[in-house]
Amino acid sequence: MSTTKPFNPFHSELLIYRAVEDTIEDKSFVNSIQSDAEAQSGSSYGLLRPESMKTSDEFKKHVAEKCLLGAIICLPYDSREPLTNVNAGSRVGIVCLKSNPQNYAHHRWSDISIDIAKEYRGKGYGGEAIRWALWYGFQMAGLHRIQISALSFNTGAEKLYRKLGFTEEGRQREFMWFNGSWHDHILFSMLEDEWREIQKKAGKEV
Ligand SMILES: CC(C)(COP(=O)(O)OP(=O)(O)OC[C@H]1O[C@@H](n2cnc3c(N)ncnc32)[C@H](O)[C@@H]1OP(=O)(O)O)[C@@H](O)C(=O)NCCC(=O)NCCS
Repeated sequence: MSTTKPFNPFHSELLIYRAVEDTIEDKSFVNSIQSDAEAQSGSSYGLLRPESMKTSDEFKKHVAEKCLLGAIICLPYDSREPLTNVNAGSRVGIVCLKSNPQNYAHHRWSDISIDIAKEYRGKGYGGEAIRWALWYGFQMAGLHRIQISALSFNTGAEKLYRKLGFTEEGRQREFMWFNGSWHDHILFSMLEDEWREIQKKAGKEV
């Protein structure tokens, strides 16, 4: 007999995950993420162009409506905290599990995309949010395979994905033209049973 009880799935150890709202604050947060040209140069293979409010609104709509999971990553807001804690409830980043067309649904795979705001990078939040998206994908959404990719010059992202247990599946060679030279696109994935094995080794019950 199952021992599962109702619970709130939208948090991990240090972070909470909430919907993108139609507010000025969420609009400008999404725009600030999309306007970080240095970060975008390492994560998107589209030709870099100055980001307008219109294009970041389109991305916001994509996160809010088109993804299997699209969430703003936040620090938890504790109403007992003094208002002087400027970080309470702050927006840390955006995490998505992309959706596939209905006629692909039976394959049960998805892609993770992640962006952490500059001031919050290198604090473990990106890794925690990816681990949570894997948990959500396998445990809640019933996925079988989750993909993530990195451009070969984004060595930080590549290192993180390997550390999290993703397997490199291959490279699309000289996939991206950036700053006068060619760069590979590295594909990683994790299968459900590999994820379960990682949880078992970490002593986590799933
Ligand atoms: C890549 C990204 C999601 C990582 O999130 P993060 O919160 O900065 O990473 P974490 O603090 O959770 O993890 C740090 C680990 O990731 C790796 N890492 C991440 N960024 C790194 C960098 N710039 N240089 C070296 N290692 C890096 C290291 O393995 C590090 O582990 P360590 O602490 O044992 O050295 C974040 O930096 C980001 O959003 N960057 C801009 C957009 C982007 O590149 N998105 C990924 C698309 S492929």
